[in-house]
Amino acid sequence: MTKKNAEASACAKLILLGEHSAVYGHPAIAVPLPSLRLNVRLKDADSYQVKAPVGPEDAEKIIQSLKVAGQLLDSVRKLEIGISSGFPMKAGLGSSAALNVAIARGLAEMEGIQPATGRIAEIAYEMEKIFHGTPSGIDTTVSAWEKPIYFIKGKPPEFIKPKKPLTIVVAFTGISSSTREVVAEVRAARDAEPEKYDGIFRDIEKVSEQGRKCMETGNLDKLGMLMGQDHQLLRKIKVSSPEIEMLVEAAVKSGALGAKLTGAGRGGCVIALSAPEDARRISDALRMHSGDVFVAKIQ
Ligand code: MEV
Repeated sequence: MTKKNAEASACAKLILLGEHSAVYGHPAIAVPLPSLRLNVRLKDADSYQVKAPVGPEDAEKIIQSLKVAGQLLDSVRKLEIGISSGFPMKAGLGSSAALNVAIARGLAEMEGIQPATGRIAEIAYEMEKIFHGTPSGIDTTVSAWEKPIYFIKGKPPEFIKPKKPLTIVVAFTGISSSTREVVAEVRAARDAEPEKYDGIFRDIEKVSEQGRKCMETGNLDKLGMLMGQDHQLLRKIKVSSPEIEMLVEAAVKSGALGAKLTGAGRGGCVIALSAPEDARRISDALRMHSGDVFVAKIQ
């Protein structure tokens, strides 16, 4: 049965290992944050309208993505969309992926169809290209499945079952960054120095492969060390920033097993892997430098 309106939501995510190299087909690991959600309200309208506190440029992208969702779901409706997010947007937590997954879910509901999760992820990936140019698809995939994934661009995700829960302290630098711009700058730098960049991406691949094993065997000490190595490699491709460095240093000094930037970088969030009993101390240390710190448990 078709409906005139629908509400839907999708969750935030963290990239644990392998951001940027994921864009070039190397494996990466992402985990969902099911309790942090972005909600959309869709309803039939005479013209496309965005009812959300976003600028005209973002509103235009949202309308484009509604149109792509319409084409892929064989829907001819024009829609009004309202958006509310329970987590900061443009902070490396996957807000655009969550928006696109939520729109795909909501529009499917209005059309009275129930696409498989993999199809929702595919549709959201096509929509995500409007926001991020040449994304790998990792953000939309983890948001659609809401499970930890080992992801290789263009392939179905492999699910990771962590042997031990992960305690991750997340701290926002307070600086929004554009994934589209950072990904495009890394691409330009790689075009200029392909051997150097591909070498770094291959090193990141080794870190992601080992990281998966650590999650599956519960070797959190080594996983933390790998996160630190990944961060050093991400520094080499120049996606860190002074604010990120300050938070990473504070996390490590206060006893994190490892810390790194997450997502595109140049701002956004830092993640710190913590022993459960140390999470409060590490959070307190990060609060000295960040107004937005929270602890996520990944099962
Ligand atoms: C963004 O969350 C992760 C990046 O690797 C981009 C992508 O894979 O689409 C920076």
